[in-house]
This record gives sequence, structure tokens and C-alpha cells, in this order.
Amino acid sequence: MHSLETVIFPVAGLGTRMLPATKSVPKELLPVYDTPLLQLAIDEALAAGARRLVFVSHPSKPGIQDYVTADPDLRAKLVAKQKTDLVRSLDRAAVADKVETHFVFQQTPLGLGHAVQCAAGFRNGGPVGVILPDDVILGAPCLSEMAAAYAPQTARHMVATMRVDDDTISRYGVFELTGQSNGASMMVSGMVEKPAPEKAPSNYAAVGRYLLDDSIFDHLDGLAPGLGGEIQLTDAIAQAQKTEGLCAFAFSGTRYDCGNREGLFQAASAYRELRLGDGGASGVPAMAMAAE
Ligand code: UTP
Repeated sequence: MHSLETVIFPVAGLGTRMLPATKSVPKELLPVYDTPLLQLAIDEALAAGARRLVFVSHPSKPGIQDYVTADPDLRAKLVAKQKTDLVRSLDRAAVADKVETHFVFQQTPLGLGHAVQCAAGFRNGGPVGVILPDDVILGAPCLSEMAAAYAPQTARHMVATMRVDDDTISRYGVFELTGQSNGASMMVSGMVEKPAPEKAPSNYAAVGRYLLDDSIFDHLDGLAPGLGGEIQLTDAIAQAQKTEGLCAFAFSGTRYDCGNREGLFQAASAYRELRLGDGGASGVPAMAMAAE
């Protein structure tokens, strides 16, 4: 597996589609059954070997920082009551105790590309992972699969992909494929953001997992606003593809769009099945029923 030290979590968005739930709770902390979206994203990054997590947040979302920070008082109370399973749950959240954790603020949500650019100070010459916590992928750890398949001599940038129907394609960034592939990695010749179905170059859509060469920060630097007036990560990746190569990686898990209520509901239901079922085989911690 290729070593992946740094993972960026863009979490500065407004989450307006999930109002009123997101009026005072950040979207990324909404629960998928019993586990916040952000926790699933962090677990996936750690499973892929990440040792430095960079959260691009907004000052109005202090809950994100609180979530990853240890709470020694609550922990001591739970320990005194011998609530071992709850201590484990609390420790799962306190990732700042386990790996290097950084916060940078995106004062205005100018787009995903701008959010990633806010983390440019943490570039270190190696590839960076980007996880969008509202894209939940269950069943197999997507970023680990990507790190295992990453072949920078062929393509220095990799984006997760899944097949989508014509009637939903205009919600996604869509890949134009060359026809060359190696296992689940398909070489890309272009990318279009949110095309009309008749203009879509394929049915392979980008989803929120990226493994990018750190040159992506050079492509983002000075990038003009694109679709919707936002600085689009897709535009920087499309530019990078021309000189550095891009592949779309068809991951094996199932993706849920948790930026909308129906997707979150479906993810919660699927995650509940995993938690109550064979958690060991699925990679999801089995639920501690006795403690709840
Ligand atoms: P979305 O595109 O779902 O946007 O962001 P949003 O603003 O959160 O949600 P709506 O459309 O208002 O409901 C996908 C991910 O990118 C982050 C979000 O926090 C989310 O994790 N993001 C988006 C940023 O960090 N900054 C941005 O400028 C835009």
C-alpha cells in the first residue's frame, strides 16, 4: 500500500439542505444511526494509514473541534462507573489524542477547491487524501482501497468513482474515460462538472474520496471561480489531469449521499445492519448492546 500521511476533511460548508437539523449542529456531526458522519470519515482515514488529519472548518462550527478533542472529565466519570463500552466510544472520537490533528478556517465557503487550498500549508511533498464526510461509503474502506491501487507513475491523481443513471448524472462531476484500465483504476481524459445528461461523457461520477499529488495545490493557486461562482476542486483536477495523469477508481463499497435527508436515512439503516450484524467481517465495530 502507498503511504498516505495526510488527509484533509473539508467541513466548512453551510449544510443548508439539511436545515433545520444543521442550524446549530454541523452537518458533519449528524449521526448515521449512532455514529457521526465525521467519525466514519476519520475511521476511514486512520484505516488508510493517515497520521495527520487537517480539518478545514468554519468558526461557526466549534462542535467539530470539540468532537475530536478529549474530554477527560467525562471519561473519568465513565471509568468510575465502569462503563467500559462508553469509554471506548468516547476514545474513538478523541482522535486528537492519537494522531496529529490540525484546524484551519475557511472564513467564507467559496467552494470545495478553495477549502482544500486552505490546507496548502500542510503539503509535504507526498500525496494527500481528501474525504468529504457527507459521502459515506460502507462495506469496504474506500480510501484504503485507493491507497493500495495508487500508481503515481501512471496517474498522479486518483478520484473515487461509481456508475450513476442518466437521471441523476447532472448532480455529479463526470469522467471522460480513455478506455485504458488496470483493475479498478480507469484512466481519465477529461472531467465535466454537473453536465446535462446528453452532455455527460460517461456514466462514471466522482464521489468524495480523492488521493492527490501535492501539485494539486499549485493547480488550485489562483484558479478562477467555476460553476456556481465557486472555486471547484474538479477544475483543478481536470487541469492536473492534462500533465500529471488522473485515474477514476471504482471502489467496492456502497456510497450514500448524506448531504440530503434520504441519503442519510438510507445510510443509517445500512449502518445499523452492519452494527447489529457481523461487525467483524464488515470492518465496523460491533455494537455494545449491553451498555446502551
Ligand atoms: P456540499 O457541496 O455538500 O455543500 O459540501 P454544503 O455547503 O456543506 O451543503 P449545502 O449544499 O448547503 O446543503 C461537501 C463537503 O465540502 C465541504 C462541506 O462542509 C462538506 O463536507 N465544503 C463545501 C467546504 O468545506 N467548503 C465549501 O466552500 C464548500
